[in-house]
Order: sequence, then structure tokens, then C-alpha cells
Amino acid sequence: MSSAGDTATDAKTQPSETPATTSTNRRQPFGRGFLDTISTGWADRPESHPPRREQADFAAARRAAVSAAFPGQRLVIPAGGLAQRSNDTDHPFRAHSAFAHLTGWASDAEPDAVLVLEPQDQGHEPTLYFRERADRTTSEFYSDAAIGEFWIGPRPSLAGVASELGLATAHLDDLQLDDDDLTVGHDPALTRFVSELRLVKDEYEIAQMRLAVEVTARGFDDIVANLPGVIAHPRGERIVEGVFHQRARSDGNAVGYETIAASGPHACYLHWTRNDGAVVPGDLILIDAGVEVDSLYTADITRTLPVNGTFTDVQRRVYETVREAADAAFAAARPGVPFRAVHAAAMEVIAARVAEWGLLPVSAEEALDADQGGQHRRYMVHGTSHHLGIDVHDCAEARREMYYDAPLEPGMVFTIEPGLYFQIDDLTVPQELRGIGVRIEDDILMTADGPVNLSADIPRTADEVEAWIARLT
Ligand code: GLY
Ligand code: MN
Ligand code: MN
Repeated sequence: MSSAGDTATDAKTQPSETPATTSTNRRQPFGRGFLDTISTGWADRPESHPPRREQADFAAARRAAVSAAFPGQRLVIPAGGLAQRSNDTDHPFRAHSAFAHLTGWASDAEPDAVLVLEPQDQGHEPTLYFRERADRTTSEFYSDAAIGEFWIGPRPSLAGVASELGLATAHLDDLQLDDDDLTVGHDPALTRFVSELRLVKDEYEIAQMRLAVEVTARGFDDIVANLPGVIAHPRGERIVEGVFHQRARSDGNAVGYETIAASGPHACYLHWTRNDGAVVPGDLILIDAGVEVDSLYTADITRTLPVNGTFTDVQRRVYETVREAADAAFAAARPGVPFRAVHAAAMEVIAARVAEWGLLPVSAEEALDADQGGQHRRYMVHGTSHHLGIDVHDCAEARREMYYDAPLEPGMVFTIEPGLYFQIDDLTVPQELRGIGVRIEDDILMTADGPVNLSADIPRTADEVEAWIARLT
């Protein structure tokens, strides 16, 4: 990210162009010859008007819903800026989900862009503000490592973005914010509204979710095909992570969250992303990974594999119990049923089985008691389902009554992801269970006819998983 000579120091450069915090220990002053010639000799950049993107009309409909809910208010939806990783390196930019949802500008959005909905007599007029490309007569383009085009590549033009997104655009310098503005991230009512607006996906979003799942499936195939190399490496979990990432990047995509590659006892750590362990034949490996496509929609899928291709009896028993819980949750999911019923169905199976195995100090019925129970949750502390979309845990600002307690509706997309995790040092379980962690996570689309498992083609029964490994390795 950083290179030598990131700031001009010649007299022609205004002091204000040199941030006070910029390190000076490796500046290469620009000579007069450079400064006299750098602004000349560049070809004109003809203005292009790329075609309107498919998502533009969907974003317009979403803005109309926001507009109707906040008449007469000036609404501000920031994309957010770069987040520092360390010193002068930043994390890759990722636009705020509400911004991407309401503009249709996603993986190629510009940092610091802001969507403003300006109130009119009727409704609102949208304007998208962002940092227009710098003229080559400015020093910015060659001397500013954070935003200069010499450093980060060409920025989009106002006219080009207006054409692609079907929105008026303006330079960020022209943006004026008022104290009365309602801003996503600051105003609770607006923040909640734009989060709840994503609970039911439109046709474009559903197509993007199908795409995200499809390309994620390829990554899982690649992991299975690479198992011999994974086993051979002392940090095989890293290889799993890398293989998945390579698939995402070589398809032009990203990952929607840090890949979990958790082998052996690591599978019991729910968000194990350290991924620095060996992958040992005889163990299970839990892989929780999702590709994020250009529109920023992400899959969120988990499969648990026997490293040597065959489940032991005890591994299979745990695995098939988790699958039974997943299937029960799927069967409970239908339009009109509260979202929380999906979790309850999975919990009935988990409680019944761990009670049968003698792990509970109480009966399954007692464990399922809302107030006094919960003993089975020791082995599955997480929820069974969450909404999924442009964020992996989508609609996080939605009210409980709109989310967990709300009825399922056609167009909702959510996970079903029960698991069983027996920590390596859990004295409440027999030795044979210790160190076994299993999760099966699928991405579900609710339709008027019932749930559709978007990830059903990724092998999920114990037999299918064994056949998958046998076929690809
Ligand atoms: N990958 C995080 C989750 O499953 O919720
Ligand atoms: Mn999940
Ligand atoms: Mn997951």
C-alpha cells in the first residue's frame, strides 16, 4: 500500500496538501522538471455513459419506501470511509450496507460517498455525492497516496455513475450537511427503518443470493478436492481458508466474512478464524465460509467433513443428529410461522438427543422449559437462524418484533445452522464425544409455497458427504 515518495515537498505544493501526520522520513522531493511537466501530456478522458445497471430500478423502489416513511425530512445515507488497518494501510473499503442497498452501488462504490434524499413538496430527490476524479493539473493525482489516481487508479466520473445508477450525482465538496438531517447510523428511527427494509428481499436480491450460494458451492468443492494437500500441510486450516479465498478471488468475488476453518477440537469454537491448526485424518473439519458477490450479497454456509473421508460411528451419530435438527427446523419454516419457531424446532431435536445420550441432568422436557431449562444449550449456545443478505447477519438493527418474533414471509432469506459442540475439556460428556464439533448451515429462501434450501446441492447428509469426498479426492 505504501510506497516511497508519497508526498510532494516542493514550493509548488501547498502546505495544506501535506497532512501534518504524514511521515517525512522517506519523502522524495519532486524536482522542478517533474513539477513543470507532470500536468501535461495526458490524453483526454472522453466522458462515457455506461448503461443503467439492472439494480438501479430496484434501488429506486427501495428509496421510494424510505421517502414515504420520512416525508419532509432530509435523509443522509453515508457509504462510510476507509478503516485504518495500521499506520498508513487501510482495510479494503466496504460500503455501508444501507448505502449499497439504496444506491445499487456496491463493490465499486467510492469511499466517503453520501446519498442524500432531499425533501420535495412530494417525496424526495436523491443526489449521490462522491469525490469526483481529480484534474491532472492538481497535485492530488500524483501526490496523494490515499486518493490520488496515480496511486489508487482512476476514480469514476460523476456523469458515468449517474448514468449507471440512474441518480443525480455531485461532487463531495458540494455536500452540505444540516443539523436537522436524519443520518443512518445516527438517527435511530432511520437506521432501524433501512435495516428492516431488507427483511424481505426483492427479485434482484434473491437472484444475487442464488448467485452467491452457487459460487460458494464451487469453493467448497475446491476445498474437498484439495484435502490431500490440506492434510499434508502443518497448518492445513490455512490451506482450507486459502483455497476458498482463491476460488472467490479467481471468480472476481470476495468473501462475506472471515472464513472459519476449524479442524478437530477447534470446531467447538464457534467463530474460529485463527485457522492455524493442522487438519488431521480421523478428525472432523468444520468449514463456515461464504462468497460475497459484486452486489455485496453473501452466502453463509457450513459443512463438516471427516478429514479421511469416512465418519466414525460416533462422529456420524453427532452429525446425523445435527442434520435431523436442521431438517426439523426446515420443516417448521413456512410463511406465517414466527421466525423463532425455526429455532424451537431445532432445539427440540437437540434436547431430545442429548438427553437420550445421558448428557443432561434433567429430562428433555425440563431442558426445553423457557424459564428453568436450557441445559442442552451448553452444547449449542448459538441461535439456529439469522437473516442473510448484504450483511452476513443482515437486518441487525431491526426490532425484535420485526425479526425474531415476526412471522416468516415470502422473500425472506435466512440461515438454518444447528450444531453440536463438545469441547475437548467438557467433563459432562463421555470421552468419545470430547473434541467433536459439527455444524450444518444452509441458506433458505422463503416462498409462498414454503422454504427453498438454496444450498441443498452442496452435499449435506453423512452419506452424501462421504461420497463427495470419495468423488473429488
Ligand atoms: N458465519 C457466521 C454465522 O454462521 O453466523
Ligand atoms: Mn450463519
Ligand atoms: Mn456461518
